[in-house]
Order: sequence, then structure tokens, then C-alpha cells
Amino acid sequence: MNTNTNNIGLPNIEDLQHLANELFSALPNEFPKEISLSPDHNEHPRATKIAETLLSAANLGQVETVFPVSNHDTLLAQSGFGPSPIPNLPKNPLDFSQTPPSMGGFGGSPSVASYGNIAPIGESQYSFSSIPKPNFFEQDLNGIDTSKYGLGSGEVPFAIGTGNNVNMEDPQTGFSDLNLKNKEESSYLPFEYEGSSFESELKAALDLVNTSFGVPLEKGSVGLEQNSSYYFLDQNPFAFDSRKPAISSVVPIQSQSRSGWVGSNFDANLIKKDFPILSEKVNGKPLIWFDNAATTQKPKSVIDRVAYFYEHENSNIHRAAHELAARASDAYEAAREKVRVFLNAGSVNEIVFVRGATEGVNLVAESWGNHNLVAGDEIIVSHLEHHANIVPWKRLADKKGLKLRVIPVDDDGQILLDEYAKLLNSKTKLVAFTQVSNALGTVTPAKQMVEMAHTVGAKVLLDGAQSVSHMKVDVRYLNADWLVFSGHKLFGPTGIGVLYGKEDLLNEMEPYQSGGNMIQDVTFEEIKYHKAPNRFEAGTGNIADAIGLGASIEYISKIGIEAIGQYEHYLLEYATHLLKQIPGVRLIGTAANKASVLSFTLEGFTNDEVGKALNREGIAVRTGHHCAQPILRRMGVETTVRPSLAFYNTCQDVDVFIETLWRLKTDK
Ligand code: ALA
Repeated sequence: MNTNTNNIGLPNIEDLQHLANELFSALPNEFPKEISLSPDHNEHPRATKIAETLLSAANLGQVETVFPVSNHDTLLAQSGFGPSPIPNLPKNPLDFSQTPPSMGGFGGSPSVASYGNIAPIGESQYSFSSIPKPNFFEQDLNGIDTSKYGLGSGEVPFAIGTGNNVNMEDPQTGFSDLNLKNKEESSYLPFEYEGSSFESELKAALDLVNTSFGVPLEKGSVGLEQNSSYYFLDQNPFAFDSRKPAISSVVPIQSQSRSGWVGSNFDANLIKKDFPILSEKVNGKPLIWFDNAATTQKPKSVIDRVAYFYEHENSNIHRAAHELAARASDAYEAAREKVRVFLNAGSVNEIVFVRGATEGVNLVAESWGNHNLVAGDEIIVSHLEHHANIVPWKRLADKKGLKLRVIPVDDDGQILLDEYAKLLNSKTKLVAFTQVSNALGTVTPAKQMVEMAHTVGAKVLLDGAQSVSHMKVDVRYLNADWLVFSGHKLFGPTGIGVLYGKEDLLNEMEPYQSGGNMIQDVTFEEIKYHKAPNRFEAGTGNIADAIGLGASIEYISKIGIEAIGQYEHYLLEYATHLLKQIPGVRLIGTAANKASVLSFTLEGFTNDEVGKALNREGIAVRTGHHCAQPILRRMGVETTVRPSLAFYNTCQDVDVFIETLWRLKTDK
């Protein structure tokens, strides 16, 4: 292909157009055979994504030939915040009415003026605008590092990237389920017709196209590396590349551009489209789901997967009996394998499907605790625990004469490790604690705490109900003896959860419930049990929802749990900073290491009043004791308002939440 290069060695837009069309003519059927690199065209989403990818490279030098210029007034107007209506109160940091006009989002360098040519905030009319967005509101807001956030812009945090990369009507981020057998019968399903991965398809297609992206660059010039084989194709487009620096308003343009590409693919606005319920209106307002610690919403791929099971596979899991039994058994066991990989467990035999985290704890209390602990033995829990990790142990302690001891926390809600160390002794048989507090968001030093328990020979049960959706949970690294979590807090169905246990330990444990499925042989004289996991899966389990959980794990694994954690960290910092500006807000739980949760009270209002005010604006938060009364009382309250975040929440969601609280305060 004849490629004109500009002074940094990249092809111009016409050449890209030509290249793209050459590429699409080589692609399989469902692709359009011609595309336009014009912002007016709403292309096939996958085509758009490719076009965006190509354009992203070219943007380094040619932005202004593609995008119309937006002026700063438009940008401010789009931000939706007028003059502050709040007299005699500290300035609402979301009020940008006094903001001096500035477009110098990249440290004011005139050399990056072309980056100002982006879509106005809040609009997504340009389906392939992946240009790293400058930070429009660069002024220091009470010390927060504004280079990290699109403060007040209503966008996702700046460092994560905000490009509207794909047709927002049809983002196509549902993923294939490799376990579906009868592909020809299910072509209507999104995860079916996607077939093989987009990236490998694209790679194969690109092999057919002679391009000259790899043109040598001048030393020190901006652009793709020499002989690059499309660096973007080697990356998971839904994940961060942690090796690349975060975008900041002061780093060189090259870093911004290169990182901008990587970051621009984590777009919470786009991800939101995968969750049908997030398009719901509540009280006439778009639903803002901030009740993720209670339960998470489900992506379409999970909903479809469960429906697919009932439409094509529904059977009990007695594999040999007939075709549908084989399909159901395969799908169920494939889901178990997905959980194993997700947790990095050594074997599928270590993965027991249960009803949820609560049942997992009860199973261990009954099958291990009731059979192994004797009067005088000690169980340690932390002050942070959910009732589900207190009540079963308290009941067991009362029944068997055990001693229940509690690891205290400091005023921020952090585990006091020194105090924990003092509780451990030779009588300690079990330590049961949470990796993330559902009421405060505290992340506990789980690995260290497990190690400390093991030094006195105690077993450890880790409650992963609030952690698995926010961080990588690797059971071999953590080395806990058991770990429990619930599917519905991991974007999967309700009524399904997981007990992980070390294989030998599970096989030593007594069965929990008894009945079909869990036995090897039954006579009236003797019963032989299966080994784990079947040993603990008596009766017909929740087959469909186990498979749905497998789909949710597939969904989040594709995005990347590390990327999710990184994004949520920015979002939590953003929300925390703004929440603290509101007079009368008391944050409950201020640990240095937190995930997702922003428990608070607002002076002058009951928590119910705050919850109702938020609900009127379509914002769902939980108010109450969050099934964690001991820790709330330790913090001096009976109840709190508890917004809890997930990766489909955006800064815009946070802005609406903050604005509502300001208005509540002002209108009183
Ligand atoms: N454990 C759930 C919560 O924290 C229900 O809200």
C-alpha cells in the first residue's frame, strides 16, 4: 500500500481510510466491507473499534483533520454545573462556575493544542474518539490531584481514559462462552456469534493486509515503535497495562498518547451498556446503582447464559443418561473450572458450589467445627465481621463451650495486628475473618493474618464476599484453608456461591447435608461418601446459576480484575474527596486501604432521610446496620448510609450523588 507519512512517520487519514477498507474487505461476513473514518458515521461496532484503533495511532499527529473543535464554554456548559446556589457554605467543589477558562489540560503546552479537539463532555457522538482527553478543570481542588480525575466532568476518572471507542448503542462487550457446545443452534446469542475472540480474528485479518505502519520513525519522534507489529493487538483491550505510566497533566505528550490508548479502553460508560438494568429509570431518573456491596447487577452475557441453559441444556447433572444431561453436566463442571482458575485453586475438587457465602461459613462451622472442636478451644473473629461470619461461630461456641475472641480495630476501622498477635495461642483452632469489610470497606492484611494464624496451628476461613469483585483473590497465595464468596456479589446470579477448601481438608470433613449426589454407595448397613466436591453437594444443586456464575467470571476476567481494582480505586478516591467536602458528613471507616464502600452519616438528617432523598434521584444506596452491628457500634453509630461502588459506576454517577447531598443540605 502506498502510504504517505507525516513528519512523525505515521500515515495520514486518507491512507488510513484506504487501509481500513482494505482490511475490512478481507474480514469475515459480518463485517462491513467499507467504512468511513468520519465522525458522522455510526459504523458496525467492531469495525468502529478497529477504525478507532487505527485512528488512535494517527491521532498523535493529525487530530484536527478529523474532529471539530469544541470551545471551552461548551465544555463547561456540558458539565452541567451552574453557579453555586449554596450561600454561606463551603464552595461545592463540583461547582465550576468560577473556573477560569483554561484548556491547557496538558500542562498548558501550546504544542498539544490539537488535543482540544474532542467531543464535548457528556456526548458520545463520535464513535471512535479515543484521543486522551485533557483535564479541563486543572485547578487544584483542595489538594486533590486533579491530573488524575476528570473532576466534575461527569466522566470516568481521567487516568482511566474516557474515549467513546465503540458504538455506544451496541458496545459488544459480551463475551463468548467456550463451553457452549451446539454453536449452530445458538447463533442468536451475543456470546455465540462473537465466536472466536475479536483480537485473534483481527490479527488473522491483518496478516492478509499489507500495511506500512511499521515505517521507521525518527529517533525520539512520537508514534509507533519501529517495526511495530501493531502493539495494540497484543494487549487485552479491556485491561490496563500497568507497565505504562498513568496519564497525568504533566507527563510528556508521547506518554499521554501511548497511555491514553491503553487506558482509553477501560470505559465505564461503555461497560455500563453491558448491564441492561443500568438503563432503567427510577423516579424518572437514570438508575445509579450504588448498592454493590449488597448485590451487583448482571451483565447481559450472564442473563443470556442462564436463559440459554433453560432453553437448550436444562437437565439434572447425571451425565450418562442422555444428551441434555451431558450438556448440563459439562456446563456445570466447566463453571467449576472457571471458578478454579479465577481463584487459582489447585484443583476443581477444591471448589464446592453452595448457596452463597453464608452457607459456606455454616458448612465449615458444622462439618468441621462441630466435629473437630472441643470445650476450651478458641475461635477468633475480627470486629469487622458480617453477621454471617459471627453468628455461626457464636452458636457453635455456645453449643460446645468454645471461647470466641475478637480482634479489635482502630478508630479508622483497621485491624490492630499487635492485638491480634496477643490473641493467638495454642488453644486457637480457627481464625475467621473478612478480606474486605462490607460496612466500612476496610481491606484487611489477609495474607499476613493467615500466616500468623498458621504459626499456632489454627485453621483460617477467609470471607471473600466483598473482596472477589474488587481485587485478585488467589487462594494459593493467601493460603487460607477455606474461602467463601457469593455469586450475586460477583455480577452473577443469586442463590449460588462458592466454598473453596484445601482438598485434603475437605476430604477429612464430615458431609454437610446428606442425600443424593454425595454418596458413592448406600446400603442399610453402611454409607460411603464421595470425596469433595460432591461430598458437599447433596441433592440437586443450583445448576443454572452455577453456570451463570461461570459466565460472570468469564465476563470480569475478560475485563481484568486488576484493571477493575485500579479503576475502582480512582473512583473511590474521587467520591471520598467530594463527600468529605459536604458539611456535616462523617465518614465511617477511614482505613488507608479500602475498597468500594463509603459509609457515612449526615448531620441533621436520619440515614433513612438521606437514603430516600438519594432514591428520589434514582440513586440506590443501602441504609441500616448492613448486617454488621458490632463494627458499626465500635464506630459509635447504629446505622449508616452506605454507597458502595463497582466498575460500572462513573464519576458522573458520583457527581449526581454529591450534588443531591449538597442540595439536601442547602434546602433544609
Ligand atoms: N452482605 C450484604 C450487604 O453488606 C447483604 O449489604
